[in-house]
Amino acid sequence: MARLKTGILISGSGTNLQALLDAAREPDDPAEIVLVISNKGDAFGLERAKAAGVATRVIDHKAFADRAAFDAALDSALRQAGCEFVCLAGFMRILTADFTERWRDRLINIHPALLPAFRGLGAQAQALAAGARIAGCTVHFVRPEMDAGPIIVQGAVPVLEGDDEARLSARILELEHRIYPLALRLIAEGRVTVKGETVLIGGPARGGDAVLISPPD
Ligand code: GRF
Repeated sequence: MARLKTGILISGSGTNLQALLDAAREPDDPAEIVLVISNKGDAFGLERAKAAGVATRVIDHKAFADRAAFDAALDSALRQAGCEFVCLAGFMRILTADFTERWRDRLINIHPALLPAFRGLGAQAQALAAGARIAGCTVHFVRPEMDAGPIIVQGAVPVLEGDDEARLSARILELEHRIYPLALRLIAEGRVTVKGETVLIGGPARGGDAVLISPPD
């Protein structure tokens, strides 16, 4: 079975990257992580990639005149490594429309909210401030607008009495580590189709494949 050659872009600790690396280590996993790129040289995720025997590149955005030049460097590194698919995992740079269109429907992101609610930074704090009873995370295809695009998998967690941003974020992050590998697997299995701006999950009927709900702590 040909595995989907996947590149991952990070900026930080890379716990989602770790979840993707762990899943891809399974011999029957349909995705293969071939390259991890960080825009920060000190991102701990780079150590995770090295420990898993995956090639790494540091492409520092500060070394480029503008976003277009930086994105062109990302694009060429991904192509050189033979990437067919790209995951953003805590990558803290806004990508140009040119890049997101080049990788249209081959580029996904994870966001710590139930999109389309609470886009942008501090999504968990936004959910708390809005008094949301249910929070969660979303894996979606990337479009030029930030945190927008066809939704692939979502996970929901309750917001509990006494939650602060740290507690809620930790509960959401645990679920992120489950839904990101799930989304990549569904895609690599060829079960995901983008129709208009929504996603169809095909294959054997396994209702709820794209929804995970955590029980209360
Ligand atoms: C996660 O909360 C993810 O949803 C957001 O950035 C954070 C990355 O965390 N896009 P990590 O680097 O994967 O630990």
